[in-house]
Amino acid sequence: MALERIQKILAKAGIASRREAERMVTEGRVSVNGQVVERLGVKADPFKDHIKVDGKRLKHFEPKIILLLNKPRGYLSTAKDPQGRPTVLDFLKNVKSRIYPVGRLDFDAEGLLLLTNDGDLAHHLSHPRFSVRKTYFVKVAGVPEEKKLIQLKRGVYLEDGEAKAVSCSLIRQKEKNSWLRIVVTEGRNHLVKRMFSAIGHPVLKLKRVEYGPIQLGDLPFGQFRSLTPDEIEKLRKLEATKSKN
Ligand code: URA
Repeated sequence: MALERIQKILAKAGIASRREAERMVTEGRVSVNGQVVERLGVKADPFKDHIKVDGKRLKHFEPKIILLLNKPRGYLSTAKDPQGRPTVLDFLKNVKSRIYPVGRLDFDAEGLLLLTNDGDLAHHLSHPRFSVRKTYFVKVAGVPEEKKLIQLKRGVYLEDGEAKAVSCSLIRQKEKNSWLRIVVTEGRNHLVKRMFSAIGHPVLKLKRVEYGPIQLGDLPFGQFRSLTPDEIEKLRKLEATKSKN
């Protein structure tokens, strides 16, 4: 874990807003390993250092985790369902942190779902403003002609506005259906299904295989893994560039 500025640590721990945390520091209410912090620039490691505010140790400073689940069809990607349907958290019962999915995948969709206890990261990666690329393999009814794929890339009109694919290509075709690869940057509800319906080829199966720089790979259905340090670094870089824009 990298060192972070003390006021940022307090804000992340939910003690106070960044500004209030700065005040706490300048008022001499914060100590690191027994030493009162006297300047705002001081850095600490929230997982190793003993940080106290008004003499009380910062508790519940959870390490940030980012998990990748291969979601099977028939599971909701929300944390709870009032109707009691199975949710992706059923696969993550041993994970003690409160984690949230990064963006949604439909009940009948499968594939890559990121989950994290880092609210900022979840926000940056799923907010439409940040335009993170998502790649899907899609089985559709029929075989779309090239001009229909061009239409998807130029933009189709949906009831909540225009939607465009970054790329879209045919990967396999049969007599009555075909598989395509499509890349989109938005996360509007049922976006890919609605885009293919708009060109007259309803989606039969939908699988997400990439989310930004992260790839699903060959993880079996219902299994999850932690991201590797390399993958985390790529996501953090993406988060940093997106939050600057
Ligand atoms: N587009 C959809 O239609 N559904 C999903 O779950 C994701 C993208």
